[in-house]
Amino acid sequence: MSRYIATSAIRGATNIVRETDLFLQKALQEKGADTKVGFPNTAYYLPTILGLTGRKVETIGDLVPVMEYVKSLTHPQPAQNRWTPYLGETLDSGIATLLAVESLQALRFLYGDQPEKLDGFQLAQASLNDGGGHLNGPIDDIQLRSWGIQLVDGRMPGFAAIVGCAKSNEVAVKIIRELQRRNILIFLAGNVNGRSIIHQLQEEGVEMGYDTYIVPFGTDTLSAIYAIGFATRSALTFGGMKGGQSREILLYNRARVFAFVLALGEVDDLKYAAAAGAISYGFPAIADTVIPEIHPTGVTSYEHVVSMPFNAIEAKDDLERAEKLVQRCIEVRGVKIKMTEVPIPVPYGSAFEGEVVRKADLRFESGGKKSRAFEYLYSLPMEKVEDGKVTVLGPDMDQVAEGGFMDIGIVAEVAGRKMQEDFEPVLERQIHHFVNGASGVQHVGQRDITWIRISKAAYEKGFRLADIGKILHARYHADFGAIVDKIQVTIYSESASVNSMLQVARDAYQRRNTRLGDMADETVEEFYSCTLCQSFAPNHVCVISPERVGVCGAYSWLDCKASFQINPTGPNQPIPKKQQLDGVKGYFTGSNEFVQQASHQQVETVSMYSIMENPMTACGCFECIVMVIPEANGVMVLSREDTSMSPAGMTFSTLAGMAGGGLQTPGVMGVGKYYLTSKKFLSADGGFKRVVWMSSVLKETMAEEFKKAAEYAGDPDLIEKIADEKICTEVPDLVAYLEGKAHPALTMDPMM
Ligand code: SF4
Ligand code: NI
Repeated sequence: MSRYIATSAIRGATNIVRETDLFLQKALQEKGADTKVGFPNTAYYLPTILGLTGRKVETIGDLVPVMEYVKSLTHPQPAQNRWTPYLGETLDSGIATLLAVESLQALRFLYGDQPEKLDGFQLAQASLNDGGGHLNGPIDDIQLRSWGIQLVDGRMPGFAAIVGCAKSNEVAVKIIRELQRRNILIFLAGNVNGRSIIHQLQEEGVEMGYDTYIVPFGTDTLSAIYAIGFATRSALTFGGMKGGQSREILLYNRARVFAFVLALGEVDDLKYAAAAGAISYGFPAIADTVIPEIHPTGVTSYEHVVSMPFNAIEAKDDLERAEKLVQRCIEVRGVKIKMTEVPIPVPYGSAFEGEVVRKADLRFESGGKKSRAFEYLYSLPMEKVEDGKVTVLGPDMDQVAEGGFMDIGIVAEVAGRKMQEDFEPVLERQIHHFVNGASGVQHVGQRDITWIRISKAAYEKGFRLADIGKILHARYHADFGAIVDKIQVTIYSESASVNSMLQVARDAYQRRNTRLGDMADETVEEFYSCTLCQSFAPNHVCVISPERVGVCGAYSWLDCKASFQINPTGPNQPIPKKQQLDGVKGYFTGSNEFVQQASHQQVETVSMYSIMENPMTACGCFECIVMVIPEANGVMVLSREDTSMSPAGMTFSTLAGMAGGGLQTPGVMGVGKYYLTSKKFLSADGGFKRVVWMSSVLKETMAEEFKKAAEYAGDPDLIEKIADEKICTEVPDLVAYLEGKAHPALTMDPMM
């Protein structure tokens, strides 16, 4: 390796450690050791420090031992002529830099310098920290989790941390678009001589924020630490690791988190030092200037530091150079990214999925309060479908005034040799996900409560109703080619035909509901497995039955069945039930055998219907945590969306550590929220009547379903006997409330 880079990284580390130390002394004097420090909306304290050292920093005083440790990592600068072939010093300096910078940022929060203010800036998100014209700062836990599933299942391959400033605004936009096309999450930080890529994108009117998957951390290099905090929390959240397991956390990131640093413009000592830190996480750095390269020695998957001077890239113009630069970044990190070309006039990729079309930008909408939109997918015999045909029956968006609305119906007819009627709802549900991928198009809901909004920008680029059909055609072939051979799409927009097709669709929805409602664990021969989350919880298996959805809520039995047809060697395998050993607790020879093997002998037996005995394991992405409250002789259900305290004395994020990681913990279980309404919910332990406390968000959003579950449980008024966080968060208060309401759990058999 190059002496230059080592010198530079070590010098950068030494300087930042000194600077942080001085700032810490100042803060200790001015504010006192007991003053609280931390980042907003996270349960992981200062996450990089927590992950790498196990220290939970809560006060300024807690930073003192952290800085002592940091100082022990920084090495004296190598003498001018000393050759340093050893990467260790550089890596130590890198880690020291990360820990120091995170400490420094926490102190800057205290002094009101973080998140950074930027004139005229507006974040594209409806989140906790979108006010006041400032940049994003660190990512909050809720956002981390909501991206989690996509990061885990590969829809979102990972993130790019861009530091610096591009050659021109045009190049900056092009780089961003190239990354978005591949669904790569984008983090922005740093500047070159005061100018940042954030300024460039702001000038070009590119919206930045959670909604557009472009997160502006800050215009200085220091704020790039938030990318490392994000990566560290990924390991803690999805990898089930604990603070202080630094080696595991670094290895997890190297193996599982596809990420790289793209340094635009001049690279100074601090950037080198930070890049050395990123290398320890297995994230390579690619620079668009001439810098010394570091080649593989096993820390990152491929090269560590790669120089690709922008002007020397062979291409016809700067835009093509930008394209090649991004291409190179992806090669260096070494992940194959599957891309589907969708022939529509706006950019397309799942990075646009979370996008919101605001009222001021609205060109056209269908659904919502003022009009109706529905979508319906069904199968036909092969000869009845003309592949790729898209028909718009009725007026197009041009006939609607700006900001106006109209009823539409999207009807997709598919054919395939392996197509089954059972797959229709599974495929139909993808419409949401597919249509949302178009930039400037927002899709909400499903069936006859669909709501589509199209932005002025998309309209001006030429987006019309027929493009919805083109999207569906491209995506069903790409993603479901194993079961869909042909697809044709008709968009109805003339009111008489919309209404008559709506009736047809509603009859089909009704038939499907009845059919699904009739399906019980007893009526099928096999369950399905899901091992998708083994990428981060290596011993976890979801056993999915008609009456028990996967813990993330995203996979039902039917989804798994379809997924197995599409990909017979994939993560969803049939589990023949074989012999029923215990129908009440839900023990079957087949599921036991499967779980033993798929959990690598970590789990011997699994009960499908009990929380007390051999409960099913969970990875990290459960929608709710169910946990026994012994004093109340029942269970509480805590929703992921609920950040408040629970009667267990812990918040969701703390409890998540106990429920996740693929371990069996009797009395604690991570579940999908629709399992709560299943007849098989804790059926071995007394069922839905055991619920004594539940996050209010669940009560509100699933009121209808819970009403039915309460009726089935034989206590129609059960829901109002169940406490929530607005009523109480302490066990004595809970018990008093339950007694006041005569909650049935109090008189049931003891749980423990
Ligand atoms: Fe992960 Fe289970 Fe969801 Fe599959 S069903 S993605 S294993 S949580
Ligand atoms: Ni999971």
